[in-house]
Amino acid sequence: MSGKLLVTGAAGMLGQDVARAARAAGHDVTALARADLDVTDGAAVAAVVTAAAPDAVVNCAAWTNVDGAEDAPEGAHAVNADAAGHLARAATSAGARLVHVSTDYVFDGQRAAGAAPYVESDATNPQSVYGRTKLAGEQAVAAADGSHAIVRSSWLFGVSGANFAATMLRLGAERDEVTVVEDQVGCPTATADLAEALVALAVGAAREAQGVFHVAGGGEPVSWNAFASEIFRQAGVDCRVLPCTTAEMPRPAPRPPFSALTTERADTPLLPPWQDGLTRFLDARKVLHA
Ligand SMILES: NC(=O)c1ccc[n+]([C@@H]2O[C@H](COP(=O)([O-])OP(=O)(O)OC[C@H]3O[C@@H](n4cnc5c(N)ncnc54)[C@H](OP(=O)(O)O)[C@@H]3O)[C@@H](O)[C@H]2O)c1
Repeated sequence: MSGKLLVTGAAGMLGQDVARAARAAGHDVTALARADLDVTDGAAVAAVVTAAAPDAVVNCAAWTNVDGAEDAPEGAHAVNADAAGHLARAATSAGARLVHVSTDYVFDGQRAAGAAPYVESDATNPQSVYGRTKLAGEQAVAAADGSHAIVRSSWLFGVSGANFAATMLRLGAERDEVTVVEDQVGCPTATADLAEALVALAVGAAREAQGVFHVAGGGEPVSWNAFASEIFRQAGVDCRVLPCTTAEMPRPAPRPPFSALTTERADTPLLPPWQDGLTRFLDARKVLHA
């Protein structure tokens, strides 16, 4: 069954893959970049959602500059929290479903590496402005009381935006060695894989499922350091990966040391192992750069 989908933040890394995945699955897609719809403008959001009358809205718009948010909490809150509320209320009024993307940074990550990954019902405790604004966005979506899926994901990489894998490939071409933190562990997630799950939750097999979902790359969680090694191994790049600690590479915003996600729900779309997503990402980059 094909559905009508509205994608916000559609020029972003995930937004582009969501629009691509939805079109490939035969859905009718309206993809709106920031220039088409500023999601912080509540009146514009209401007008656009009402006029489009979609079956579902997939919100990929966000303030994603984690460090920059520390100095601009109002700006981050407007996009990550207030705008999520605008979209949720507009979708509810229009009888549309909202699929909203959130993050592993809603957790404090104070579990030991090798501990059980976080499930949907675990207590949140964000440590950064970004994490707090994303959690406020989740709460705004739930408060609108419409049909919704709040999808927490983590460590995204895709062909349409800046991300850790792309950075490593650039550095690996320039240097013999890179130094990468080994005391932060999580689940890398290919945006192409996540996009298919979001479409399934919006207008596909999981379109009736309600609430919070953890959707991250399958396979064992890894450190950024081990992720970098796998990127170079698969890409055939000869670059040594040296370890360091987070304390040795301080950043303005605190990161959760252990933020691996898994699901406790039977109706959550599952993703393939992140290593397979990485293989497809590298293949897609080759095609793009050919
Ligand atoms: N990247 C990760 O590792 C990661 C991990 C977990 C969860 N997530 C979540 O995944 C989602 C997608 O992230 P992403 O990695 O695709 O980030 P991204 O590439 O930065 O995409 C976000 C998009 O939102 C747009 N945007 C910002 N403010 C807007 C506004 N006021 N109105 C409309 N659009 C606006 C941005 O436009 P401009 O470029 O013009 O600002 C950008 O195109 C976000 O919800 C993020 O929190 C990301």
